[in-house]
Amino acid sequence: MKKLVAVSTLALLLAGCNPGDQGAEDATKTEDTTKEKTDDTVAKEDKKTDAEVAKEKEAAEAKKEADAKAAADKKAAEDKAAADKKAADDKAAADKKAADDKAAEDKTTEDKTTDDKKDDGKTTSSQDPEPKTPSEPESETPDVDKSDTKADLGLGLLVVVNKKYSLPIDYKPSDLVVPDISFSYSGVLEQSYMRAPAAKQMEKMFAAAKADGVTLNAVSGFRSGQRQTVLYNNYVARDGKAAADQYSARPGHSEHQTGLVFDISAPSVGNGLTAELGNTKEGKWIANNAAKYGFIVRYDKGFQARTGYTYEPWHIRYVGVGPATQIKNNGQTLEEYMKVGH
Ligand code: DAL
Ligand code: ZN
Repeated sequence: MKKLVAVSTLALLLAGCNPGDQGAEDATKTEDTTKEKTDDTVAKEDKKTDAEVAKEKEAAEAKKEADAKAAADKKAAEDKAAADKKAADDKAAADKKAADDKAAEDKTTEDKTTDDKKDDGKTTSSQDPEPKTPSEPESETPDVDKSDTKADLGLGLLVVVNKKYSLPIDYKPSDLVVPDISFSYSGVLEQSYMRAPAAKQMEKMFAAAKADGVTLNAVSGFRSGQRQTVLYNNYVARDGKAAADQYSARPGHSEHQTGLVFDISAPSVGNGLTAELGNTKEGKWIANNAAKYGFIVRYDKGFQARTGYTYEPWHIRYVGVGPATQIKNNGQTLEEYMKVGH
């Protein structure tokens, strides 16, 4: 081995080469080769990586796109589920409201029936419904609200409230009291009240009737705009708008809201609010004597074309003794006396 190295060194010397250099060169070459190889590999690897990166990028983008689509699909599905749920909830709420409304309406009808019993014992309503009038088609119903005008409360006891003139729906007089008279029901209700000046005169009138052997009973006085709304809507549901408008005021248009009115009746007609009252001793007593106490029969027989309402012998309106006497003696309506429309 030693001999071979010596020969080899000699050969190199002869060739003018420094064996150390050769070694170094070889080493360098080897190193270079390795480097080349390494570079090549790196290049190749770089090339491969680029392709892979591009591919991966493509794949990543595709995945991203797929993920985005999946997310969008998921969101759309969630949105749809939420919308479906909302629709279902809304429907459930609407159904519940309809059921509640119906229950409330049924309750109102029940209340009304109860009121009717309290009010008149046998007739249909606390609010003067005439016996069933055939309903007109709704399109032919006069729209009284179209000519709505504010009632002039400044007129005091002579305020006119009718189909044309209305009160604010929340109007309530501040001097309401329960008159000391006999009622067709026991207990105190909203409808037991009346404005103080009118209530005082009612007491006098009831006492005078009693002295004449006439028994009267008070049925329905003050009525809020809200209560009128309930009643009117019930009448419309029962008889149709055209018929209801013949005997019931629309909300805000009832004289009962002034606190200057009382519906009164008598045991002889079961305390009913019925035209029949006009033929009884009590009804005749009211027609003949009410003006002495400041009351007028507001919707008298044959006055429908001039008041807009059918005959109500039970509905008396306080206007004061002077005006009531004049109105009665002249056979006028309140509108004619006040020179206003109805
Ligand atoms: N019945 C009368 C007109 C009213 O509803 O006030
Ligand atoms: Zn009335």
